[in-house]
Amino acid sequence: MRKGPVAPGRLTASDDTAAGSVVFELRDVDVALPVGSHDRDILHHIDATVRSGEIVGIIGPSGTGKTTLLRVLSGLVRPTSGTVLLGGEPVTGPSRDAVTVFQDYATALLPWRTVARNVGLPLEGRMSKAQQRDRVHEALRIVGLTGHDREYPWRLSGGMQQRVQIARALVVEPHVLLMDEPFGALDAITKGSLHDQLMQVQAATGQTIIFITHDVDEAVYLSDRVVVIHGSPGSIVHDVTTQLPRPRDQIATRDLPRFHQVRHELAEVLRYGRLA
Ligand SMILES: Nc1ncnc2c1ncn2[C@@H]1O[C@H](COP(=O)(O)OP(=O)(O)O)[C@@H](O)[C@H]1O
Ligand SMILES: [Mg+2]
Repeated sequence: MRKGPVAPGRLTASDDTAAGSVVFELRDVDVALPVGSHDRDILHHIDATVRSGEIVGIIGPSGTGKTTLLRVLSGLVRPTSGTVLLGGEPVTGPSRDAVTVFQDYATALLPWRTVARNVGLPLEGRMSKAQQRDRVHEALRIVGLTGHDREYPWRLSGGMQQRVQIARALVVEPHVLLMDEPFGALDAITKGSLHDQLMQVQAATGQTIIFITHDVDEAVYLSDRVVVIHGSPGSIVHDVTTQLPRPRDQIATRDLPRFHQVRHELAEVLRYGRLA
């Protein structure tokens, strides 16, 4: 899919052509959230820069604040201190430039709408019916759900519901895609083909993708950079550039010595909280 006129926002076409312009900038971000009568520190001293067209994987043990960090980027959680910029502007709430795929796909979809009408929801009123149909059709093709447009989400498997949510994000052709464990409910074959479809879309559009996963191999396979969050409160303890050639290949890429090297490095950091 190409970037259409739907989400111009702050990240304009000229920014896109300037490869590597800064999309997100986080400076000394702390997040505390209320637990009972007091605030608990969830994230501490997060410094990060994400550039246009990057695919960044976030991994780390449960409860270290990965989802909270994604919600900060989405504009759904305000940091207690520090700065979060999207396209050079402070993030004060959800932006049209950045679309989020939530972990809980079951509550993200509207049960009374068909698959096609869930996916097409963000386009309603923004373009002709024919254009909406084309976009929905293409988004469903990308996630491997062609032919399921008239079904209801609650009749689909968890993995299919998750893919409907991904299609609904892709359909607006966002500049930034934020995804919280988006492949968690998928079987290995479906997961592999969705990985490759997403990377094709990203290569064609120059989208910036930030995603959370528990799967080290998946993080290495998809990402330009993998960031590890660790500790309580969580902080970034590692940030590795994968330096694997694109386009990637399910078999050949995973056979490369560099793939094994990065995977080993990440396994160590996940286990010990730092390089051993
Ligand atoms: N809205 C909230 N209010 C209070 N505490 C929260 C809230 N959301 C998450 N937490 C706590 O913050 C910590 C990090 O949660 P989360 O960001 O979901 O971690 P992860 O995604 O890495 O598993 C957890 O201990 C969780 O209980
Ligand atoms: Mg989480």
